[in-house]
Amino acid sequence: MIIAIDGPAASGKGTLAKRLAAHYGLRHLDTGVIYRAVAYALISAGADLKDEAAAVKAAQELDPEIFDDPALKSHQVGSAASVVSAIPRMREVLVEFQRQFAAAPPGAVLDGRDIGTVICPNADVKIFVVADPRVRARRRTLEAQSRGEEADEATILADILARDERDQNRAVAPLRPAKDAYLLDNSDLDIEGGVRAAIDIVEAVRAGRQRV
Ligand code: DC
Repeated sequence: MIIAIDGPAASGKGTLAKRLAAHYGLRHLDTGVIYRAVAYALISAGADLKDEAAAVKAAQELDPEIFDDPALKSHQVGSAASVVSAIPRMREVLVEFQRQFAAAPPGAVLDGRDIGTVICPNADVKIFVVADPRVRARRRTLEAQSRGEEADEATILADILARDERDQNRAVAPLRPAKDAYLLDNSDLDIEGGVRAAIDIVEAVRAGRQRV
């Protein structure tokens, strides 16, 4: 089974994807990490984030070993990834890696922006996670503070809105729900509630019921 989870920044899709993968015994790929790794390579090399040749090269030389590097988690790298990821030729380089990950047994949960629309258009289940931007900013702020980092909620909200705008309006693989995706609004749900709602969707699809 392949499950595609898409949604905007800080929607909680990553945690949800991880939990769904554990629940169904599937592998999990956070595809945002790939774009973050490319952005990080460019930043480290002092290259411009819009430098197509440098971005393509960084994507070709991508080393999955770096995916666990905590440096990739920062807001700065996330925003940079949003800029870099608008380069179509760089995205093309990364398509095959993601498809192979999805296709390997026993199946996988991939989370990102274009999984249901571009990477895995034939995914068994597609879920598009949304939440009010203010709720997402609040959650991100609390998360950062719990790690002992300083976090300004207004700055984080502005960053989230700018990222939504860039991710939704880029020419290639823009963030938007696939036609056959189920919308999951978790603004008023905690993590457990979101996981339950997602499992309900997967089970409904498996049982061959109508769209919920
Ligand atoms: O989900 P995230 O915050 O880790 O993603 C960082 C950026 O990477 C995001 O703003 C846009 C880009 N991205 C993408 O273009 N396609 C994906 N499938 C995942 C992320």
